[in-house]
Parts: sequence; structure tokens; C-alpha cells
Amino acid sequence: MGSKGLEGIVAARTTLSHVYGEEGRLVYGGYEIEDLAENASFEEVCHLLWFGELPSRAGLEDLKAKLARDAVVDERVLDLVRAAPREAHPMSTLRTAVSALGLVDPDAEDMSAGANLRKSIRLTAQAVTVTAAIDRLRNGKEALAPRAGLSLAANLLYMLHGEVPEALAERIIDAALIVHAEHGMNASTFAARVTAATLSDLHSATTSAIGTLKGPLHGGANEQVMRMLLEIPDPEAAGPYVRGKLERGEKIMGFGHRVYRTTDPRAPILKRLAEELIRRGGNTRWLQISDRIQETMREEMARKGKPIYPNVDFFSASVYYTLGIPLDLFTNVFACARMAGWTAHVMEQYSDNRLIRPASEYVGPRGRKVRPIEERA
Ligand code: COA
Repeated sequence: MGSKGLEGIVAARTTLSHVYGEEGRLVYGGYEIEDLAENASFEEVCHLLWFGELPSRAGLEDLKAKLARDAVVDERVLDLVRAAPREAHPMSTLRTAVSALGLVDPDAEDMSAGANLRKSIRLTAQAVTVTAAIDRLRNGKEALAPRAGLSLAANLLYMLHGEVPEALAERIIDAALIVHAEHGMNASTFAARVTAATLSDLHSATTSAIGTLKGPLHGGANEQVMRMLLEIPDPEAAGPYVRGKLERGEKIMGFGHRVYRTTDPRAPILKRLAEELIRRGGNTRWLQISDRIQETMREEMARKGKPIYPNVDFFSASVYYTLGIPLDLFTNVFACARMAGWTAHVMEQYSDNRLIRPASEYVGPRGRKVRPIEERA
């Protein structure tokens, strides 16, 4: 049998990104993630993913104008979000909304390269608007329209909270969007490419991806990390909490990775941002508890001879929480960022397509005959 979980199987060739698991490096189109997080904006990274190059000043202004124009969401889709039960998970609502955006998109069934690029830009902008609208509408508030002149990061916070964010908050969300934008053949990207490889449309592919990202082993981990941090009453309690979970055979969310064999390079970027937030008056509690969890994991996993390192979600959780993003909306923020990567992968898949159709090993019974229903147990 092949590798369970397809570990190590190469399922596509890509120019978009590479995860160097042993070294703990992540590279988008030849640029190190640290360099991009520090010196580029999310919009510039979108340009890199969709066009293969960082934009010129004019190219960036053009893309920003398109993103701003396209961020407006059709009222019929907002009505659907409004109709969602209050207790629906925001990722389920986003999945439904993105699918519904395909119903009203003027390019929905157009499979030309130009139409797919327009849909990629539109979906990336609209995911931000929908994410904020989900939270406002479920709380009985009106959805806010995106504000012209703001970045996607600032607009996300603006449309959520009704206030233009401070520069630091915008920069932190912008960096979080950059580090979550793309990550090789992760599970949701694979789902998107599998759907695209049947030559289904881009809204269908990204709807598949959102459903896949939702799971707690993938994008849903950031929400679970925050639930864990909230469950631990103080830093002293973190060690016994982690040991107890490990003794019960439970996983600690925000640790471990299929590809990284060392620290996920995105984790220290987010940790530095979390520290910056704290210096500006944030709560030190989350970092103290996080440090103790990390220490305990280091000790326990070293004892078991199975080092497990923190991943991106371990620090994104407390950063989002400190910025006032509701806990169950964390994975939606991840989805807003990854929309850029998913759409880039879908376009790459279309450009050199072959149906993705692996095999399975049959291990069920053989040689059975259908008996009349009355004779069956
Ligand atoms: N806490 C405790 N133990 C962990 C662990 C964690 N977070 N992640 C992995 N392990 C252990 C597994 O129990 C397994 O032990 P075993 O060999 O005794 O069975 C071993 O490490 C290998 O893990 P495995 O689950 O086979 O790795 P994977 O490549 O299939 O899974 C993840 C990778 C990310 C799904 C997994 O590490 C995980 O579930 N992490 C928590 C969820 C999370 O943070 N996801 C976000 C990823 S960015």
C-alpha cells in the first residue's frame, strides 16, 4: 500500500511556494517568508502568487483598485448570511457564502484565464467582506461595506469593529495574512486542486478548500489553541494541563506538522508580533501560558524521543484574540489569506491539467452473492 495520508507523495509541480521541512523555511516564488512578512504587504504577496512577480508601484495600485472595487458583496449573498442560524460555525457560513458567490458572479462558468484571474481577485476581496459580515449579522448589527482606500487587512478590522484600526493592528493582520497565504500542497490546497482538476469552476474548488480548512487538524487548530489558552487558569497550571492531555493520548493543538521537522518559520514571526502587541499594552497572560506550554511540550516530547514543535496556529490564536477577533472567526481569517494561495493553485492546475485520481487498495470481503432480503440477518 502507498503512504497513509499520502505523506511525501508529490501530487503537482508548482512555482508558488516551497516548504523546506528540515530547515524550517517557507519560500513563496523564491522569496523567504520573513522577507515578505517584513517588507511586503498582503496585496503585494497576492500579486506575487497570481502573476509570479512582486508588483511595480503602478501594478500594485491597479491591483488594489480592483480588490477595492471587487470587495463589495452582492446583497443576495448577504441575505443568505443573514439567514444563517446564529449558532452556525462561521466557517460553514463562509463555505456556503463562497459557493453562493459563484451563483451571482458574472464570470462564474467562464473558464478562460482572464475570467479565472478576475474571479481570484474578486473572491479574495469578497472573503474578507463576508467574514466580517458573518460576525456583524449574527450579532444583529448591519454589515459594513468595505471602506475605499484601506488595505484588505485594515478593512477586515474596520468591517468587523466599525472603526479604522491603528497602524500596528493593521500591520499585524497584514503580516498574518501574508504568512497564511500559501503553503505548498497542504490539505485544503490539495482539495482545491482535486476539484479544479475535474475542470470544475473556481468557486467550486475554493468551496471544497474551505470545507477542508475547517477541520481542527488543519485551519481549525487556531480556534482550538485559543480555547486551550482560555481553559488554563494561569501559567503554573500549563505544565500539568499539557501533561494530563498527553497522558490521555490527546494532541496539543498548535503543535506538530506534517512537513516541518523543526519550528514552523511562521510561528516566530507571529510570536514577535504578539510581543509587540503586549508592549503596547496587551495582556501578557497568553504569552506566559504559551511559553509554559511550549516548555512542557519540549520536555515531554524529548522524553518520548519525538520532538514536536509549535506551528503557525500556536501564536496566531492569541494575536487574533488580543485584536478583538471572535474566537470562532479565527479560521475564517486564515481562509481570507489562503484564498490567495488556493486561487493561484487552481489557476496553475488549469494551466497544465490532468485529472487527479489516485487508487485505493481494496481490503473488503470478496466473492459474496446477494441473498433474498427475507433471508438476511
Ligand atoms: N500533540 C501531541 N502529540 C502529537 C501532536 C500534537 N500536537 N502532533 C503529533 N503528535 C504525535 C502523534 O500522536 C504521533 O505519535 P505516535 O507516533 O505515538 O502515534 C506522532 O506525533 C506523529 O504525528 P502524526 O499525527 O502521525 O503526524 P501527522 O503528520 O499525521 O499530523 C498534524 C500532523 C498537524 C495533523 C498533527 O501534528 C496534529 O494533529 N497537530 C495538532 C493540530 C494542529 O495544530 N494543526 C495545525 C497544523 S498547521
